[in-house]
Amino acid sequence: MVAFDSLKRRGSELNLDRLKLGGVDFMHGDIRCREDFDALGAADVVVDASAEPSVLVGLESGADYLVNTNLNGTVHCLNYAKKHHADFIFLSTSRVYPIQGLNRIDLKETDTRFELLAEQSQAGVSEKGISESFSLKGSRSLYGATKLAAELLIEEYREWMGIRTVINRFGVVAGPWQMGKVDQGFVALWMAKHFWQKELAYIGYGGSGKQVRDLLHVQDLVELIDRQIQEMDHLSGHTFNVGGGIKNTASLLEMTGYCQELTGNAIPIKKVPETRTADVPMYCTDNSLIGQVMNWQPRFGLDSIVQDTYGWMKENQSILKPILA
Ligand SMILES: NC(=O)c1ccc[n+]([C@@H]2O[C@H](COP(=O)([O-])OP(=O)(O)OC[C@H]3O[C@@H](n4cnc5c(N)ncnc54)[C@H](O)[C@@H]3O)[C@@H](O)[C@H]2O)c1
Repeated sequence: MVAFDSLKRRGSELNLDRLKLGGVDFMHGDIRCREDFDALGAADVVVDASAEPSVLVGLESGADYLVNTNLNGTVHCLNYAKKHHADFIFLSTSRVYPIQGLNRIDLKETDTRFELLAEQSQAGVSEKGISESFSLKGSRSLYGATKLAAELLIEEYREWMGIRTVINRFGVVAGPWQMGKVDQGFVALWMAKHFWQKELAYIGYGGSGKQVRDLLHVQDLVELIDRQIQEMDHLSGHTFNVGGGIKNTASLLEMTGYCQELTGNAIPIKKVPETRTADVPMYCTDNSLIGQVMNWQPRFGLDSIVQDTYGWMKENQSILKPILA
C-alpha cells in the first residue's frame, strides 16, 4: 500500500511515522504533475483523497490551484487507474450541491440551532437531510465546482474505459489527525482554540453560531472505504451522499458547549454578523441510499467525535500546538 501526497496541508507531515507504523509506504508526489505517477508501481485500487478542500480558496485569487489539483489531478489519478486496471474510489463532497438551493431549504430557528422542517418546498430534501436527488442547478463555490467536474469525468472513465468507480459525497468529516483551520475542519479548530485558550468567532447568520452540519467520524469513513474496496463488484457506478446524518448534527454554538465541557475552558468568541461567501445555514446528509445499498450507517456518534478529538489533542499537544494553536 502506498500513500502518495505532496504534504501541502500543514501537519500532514505528522502522518509519516504513523504510515510507517501501519506498514504503508510513503511516496512524495504531486497529483498535478503527471510524471510523478511514473514512479508509482501497479495498483489494484486508487482512493483519490488529495484535494484542496477549502470552500473559500480561489474565490479571490482565482481557480488555478483548485482546478489543477482537484480536477486535473483527478484526471491524472484516473489515467493511472486506467493504466493498471485499478478500481477508483473518489472522496467527493456535499459541496457539489448549489449554494442557492441549500439557502432555500425550509428551516426553523431554535435557541441553539437551525433545524430542518418536516415539510420542504424543494425536491431532494426532507427532515432526514439532503439526498442525491437534490438539484445540481446553480453555483456552488469553486471548490464544489472542481469536485463536481471531477465526478463527471469519473463517470466517463467508468462508462467508456471500463474502470470500476464509487463516488462518495461526504458531509463534514471530523476526528483525530485533522489539522483544522478557519476555512476547513471546524471541529478540530473549535477544540484546539478551547484547548489552548485562544479566540474564535461566530461568523455569519448575525453572529448567532446557529449554523449546523452533520459530522462523520474519520474512522467511519475509513471503514466504509474498506468495505467499498471489498464490495466493488456490486457498488461500481454508485454515487452516494455519506455523512453523520441527522442524529450527529451540531451547531457552532452547541460545539462550544462540548468543547467547554471537555477542556474546562471558556474562551472569548466574537460575533461577526455578515455571512461568509459560499456559506450555508444548514447541511445534513440523508444517508438513505447508502443505507439501502450497503446496509451502512455511521457507527460513531457526536460524543465519540468530540471526545476522540479532545483525547488526540491532549495526547499529542507538543507536536500539535505549533500547527493548531
Ligand atoms: N474534511 C471534510 O470535511 C471533507 C468533506 C467532504 C469531502 N472531503 C474530501 O476528502 C478528501 C480529503 O480531505 P481532507 O479534509 O482530509 O483534507 P486534507 O487537506 O486534510 O487532506 C488532503 C491531502 O491532500 C494532500 N494534497 C493537497 N494537494 C495535493 C497535491 N496537489 N498533490 C498531492 N497531494 C496533495 C494534502 O497534503 C493532504 O494530505 C478531499 O478530497 C476532500 O475534498 C473532505
